[in-house]
Amino acid sequence: MSDEKIFAVPLKVEDVADCHFYHTMEVPGHGLMNGEWDLRGGVDDYLGRVAFAGQRVLEIGPASGFLTFEMEKRGAEVVSVEVTAEHGWDFVPYPASKLEEVFGPRRMVMQRLKNSYWFSHAAHHSKANVYYGDVYNLPAALGQFDIALMGSVLLHCRDPLRIVEQCGQKAKSLIITDMFHPDLESAPVCRLAPTPQKFLWHTWWHFSTQFFTQFLAVMGFTTAEILRHQQYRLGRAYTLFTIVSKR
Ligand SMILES: C[S@@+](CC[C@H](N)C(=O)[O-])C[C@H]1O[C@@H](n2cnc3c(N)ncnc32)[C@H](O)[C@@H]1O
Repeated sequence: MSDEKIFAVPLKVEDVADCHFYHTMEVPGHGLMNGEWDLRGGVDDYLGRVAFAGQRVLEIGPASGFLTFEMEKRGAEVVSVEVTAEHGWDFVPYPASKLEEVFGPRRMVMQRLKNSYWFSHAAHHSKANVYYGDVYNLPAALGQFDIALMGSVLLHCRDPLRIVEQCGQKAKSLIITDMFHPDLESAPVCRLAPTPQKFLWHTWWHFSTQFFTQFLAVMGFTTAEILRHQQYRLGRAYTLFTIVSKR
């Protein structure tokens, strides 16, 4: 199946002060960590109401790992794919003079984000594995999966369809969760989010649900479920969609 050598050696993070929590989450033995996104009330919808018991799951972009540990709690074996320190992010190519201001602080946030994952991983006694690498060229050594989860990650990636394609080659079921944009619905489209004025260096796209369901159908997948749900970022409600498709 998979080659264990490609997985990261768990990082020992002893001090919670070295962590940046993206998710609001309970960390056993340490209490509630406050993060940007609180998915606790809507996690079943976020994950497409899929049954995870006995499933091998490929998770693209775990951030602090709230979903990793929730899926494990439901009986999944999880492999998470995260960006390397060298690549850092699919930065939107604003002029170098503007971007350079972002690189240093971002590098620190990303390290602290990875620390939050490993801090929680230890506290949960998690068995999840992490592959730090190129999401556009996932190695065969990762093996095959029952489910691949792309949760709020495709909007941040230059080539989202390549990621869907790669996940489609590795998994029988795909879960895609992203921001819902009612004005884009009823056509298979995506819209470029950054403008010269709005310095959106971290986010590329707004998607319609049809953008994915049509592409998934092209790949031979059948969409079983499209859910819409509210999730909370810094106390404000946002509408997201979750698509579940099967080969
Ligand atoms: C907005 S967070 C979403 C976290 C989690 N999946 C969720 O739904 O709550 C995006 C995650 O994807 C990762 N990510 C962003 N760009 C990536 C890329 N090009 N390759 C791999 N991971 C990426 C980020 O580092 C982060 O862990």
